[in-house]
Amino acid sequence: MYSDAHIKMLISEDQLKTRVREMAEQLTRDYQEKELVVVAILKGALVFCSDLIRHIALPLEMEVLGVSSYTSGTETTGEVRLSFDLTKPLAGKHLLLVEDIVDTGLTVDFLINTFQARKPASIRICALLQKPARKRVHVPIDYVGFVVEDHFLVGYGLDYAERYRNLPFIGALKVV
Ligand code: IMP
Ligand code: MG
Repeated sequence: MYSDAHIKMLISEDQLKTRVREMAEQLTRDYQEKELVVVAILKGALVFCSDLIRHIALPLEMEVLGVSSYTSGTETTGEVRLSFDLTKPLAGKHLLLVEDIVDTGLTVDFLINTFQARKPASIRICALLQKPARKRVHVPIDYVGFVVEDHFLVGYGLDYAERYRNLPFIGALKVV
C-alpha cells in the first residue's frame, strides 16, 4: 500500500462513480442516432474511459490513442507527439476524445488540430478533470467532470512517474 503521508484524498471513489455516471447519461442523450467513436487517450484516461463507456447506453466504437508530452519532472515542455494512432478512418464519425485531465491544454489542442484533417462529423472533448490555473491555450472542453485547483494529482489513471494509476480515488501528491 501507499503511505497516506504522501497523498491527500481530494475526490473519493463514490464521488467519481456518481459524476462519471452523470457524464455518461449526458453523452447518451447527446449522441442519440450518431456514429460515436470514443477515444481513450493513453495511459491516463484508460480507467476513466472504461468506467464511462459502461454507462453510455448507445452503440459505440472504442479506440485508444497514444500521445506523449515531453516532461521534465511534473512540468510539460509544451511539445506533443502522437505515439500510437487510431486504427480506423474517422470520416463522417462523431469523435469523442476522452482525457484524464486538461492542464495546459496543449495535448487537446494538438489532437483537435491533428484530427480535424481527417474530416470527422464532429470532435468533442470529455475530460474528467480540468485545471484552469495552468491553461496555456484556449480549448473548449465540452464535458468536464471536476474543475480542480493547481495541485499535482494522482490516482484513477493519473500517475506520477508511472505510479499511483491504480488508486481508486483522486489525490494530491505532496511533494516532499
Ligand atoms: P496538458 O497537455 O498540459 O493539458 O496535459 C496533458 C497531460 O499531462 C494529461 O493528459 C496528463 O497525462 C498530464 N497531467 C497534467 N496534469 C497532471 C496531474 O496533475 N497529474 C498527473 N498527470 C497530469
Ligand atoms: Mg494523459
